[in-house]
Amino acid sequence: MTDTIEKDLLIVGSGLAGLRAAIQAAKTSSKIRIAVISKLQVMRSHSVSAEGGTAAVLFPEEGDSLESHVYDTVKGSDFLADQDVVERLVHEMPSEIYQLEHWGMPWSRREDGRIGQRNFGGYSFPRATYAQDKVGFYEMQTLYDTCQKFDNIEFFNEWFVTSIIHDGQRFCGITAIEISSGTFYTIKAKALIIATGGAGRVYSYSTYALSSTPDGLDMAYRAGLALKDMEFVQFHPTGILPSGILITEGARGEGGYLINKDGERFMKSYAPGLMELAPRDIVSRSMMTEMLEGRGFKNETGVDCLKLDLRHLGDNIIKEKLAAIREISMKFSGVDPSKEPIDVRPVCHYMMGGVHTDIDGATEIQGIWAAGEAACNSTHGANRLGANSTSECIVWGKITGELAARYVLDAKTSPFPLHLISLEEKRIYDGIFRGHGDANPYEVKQQVTDLMNEKAYVFRNEKDLVDGLRKVRELKEKTWKHVDDKASEYNTNFTNVMELDSIFRIAEVILVGAIKRKESRGAHSRIDYPARDDKNFLHHTLAYYDIKEPILKESPVTITKYQPVERKY
Ligand code: FUM
Repeated sequence: MTDTIEKDLLIVGSGLAGLRAAIQAAKTSSKIRIAVISKLQVMRSHSVSAEGGTAAVLFPEEGDSLESHVYDTVKGSDFLADQDVVERLVHEMPSEIYQLEHWGMPWSRREDGRIGQRNFGGYSFPRATYAQDKVGFYEMQTLYDTCQKFDNIEFFNEWFVTSIIHDGQRFCGITAIEISSGTFYTIKAKALIIATGGAGRVYSYSTYALSSTPDGLDMAYRAGLALKDMEFVQFHPTGILPSGILITEGARGEGGYLINKDGERFMKSYAPGLMELAPRDIVSRSMMTEMLEGRGFKNETGVDCLKLDLRHLGDNIIKEKLAAIREISMKFSGVDPSKEPIDVRPVCHYMMGGVHTDIDGATEIQGIWAAGEAACNSTHGANRLGANSTSECIVWGKITGELAARYVLDAKTSPFPLHLISLEEKRIYDGIFRGHGDANPYEVKQQVTDLMNEKAYVFRNEKDLVDGLRKVRELKEKTWKHVDDKASEYNTNFTNVMELDSIFRIAEVILVGAIKRKESRGAHSRIDYPARDDKNFLHHTLAYYDIKEPILKESPVTITKYQPVERKY
């Protein structure tokens, strides 16, 4: 028997979506017991790393409009976004900016004292609402502070959730390890919100925190929930070398240039209208083309790159508006951006895919919702516009928090499928903790994540993807499933190997989806199928778990107003 805890609503993940959901659930009812469970301390959630902005229409009187935000997002998505979902995001967002402000968010200000907004890629109006270039940090602090006002929100920090338990129809609970003691728990509850964030550590060159592994996606997948559109991985144009840490698009929003070795602003050849502020998929492809055609630089590590030049912005703007990336650049690559350009190349930054949900964030199992980057409600389609991600976290945190709380108030408890607990114990303790083998899991992790970089990066083709899948499967068969540290307390060796286990399953889902999608759309760019193919591929991809390999299905795209057209910028 495991130790058991009972709550009403579980929120797994303590980033922006999780915290916003907790606040809304607590506001909806003071009677329900809410647990926010995270494998980290709250303020180490990866949302704190969001830099450049949160998109919202704040100044219609100055020319912006909801309609324009909707269209920019749909066009940016290469017409794969569900348009009703985009409309919801855009319409809900302005009031959320003011809500955050009322909770204490220190938005940067314009000269006239109003909230500041900057340019971001793919938008027709500057609508990335910012607080220097530390937007996520301040938003997290604001939401975490606000959570403290509610007595019915309890934080379970440093708990590693291993599985979702349901009876085939309804959510029943989860299993989790309290990392500080190593105790394995069952937590029973009526509702769950999956808000575990993105999983970009499937790639080795990545802007994500090392903790952003796919355990959240994987527990949903193993529980039978579909993962949607996982082949669409966003490569942000400006990952600094050698670490891959994000250099915000806000740097280009403030006027930064991308330069090739001939000193040219090469974006004029690819997107003469928007130049460096074209959507990310286009800028990243343009950068790759420049490098592949020999117009790149070599970083001192030997890696190809281009230069991001901010010198003309001047020291004051850089210090005032881009303080975080100035510090990152100086500390992590020894470059003062007011004196020298920064070495950058496209880096894994976001997953458009995630747990399949409807427009309300509801999954296919009653009592389970998903929100934020872990979810795929189809806001972003094949390519997300910058600054729409923190917006999505906030809007669907709010929506799912309220819906889940209302559900809890009426829901009956269902009989608990106890046999699933022993199966899960067997999976993680017999299968992983007490496993044996010679392969070093840390080396295997490096190999599989390097493979993803090599085979499923900005430009893709059948041969590389198939080869990548074969090699991922070969690595998966190696004997890395063992934990050498047998300690109970803070056994990160154990959690690291569980994370690797999830990396394998999710890497496979990305690759099979990318092989099946024989077209180029948004961030999924196949050099062997260079055109978008609306006749055969204007649909979402759903992947369901099977012991042998993912089972792929299709689901339709919701088009309300905008028929797909060719994207030109
Ligand atoms: O470049 C950035 O600041 C990233 C923002 C985003 O991904 O939304």
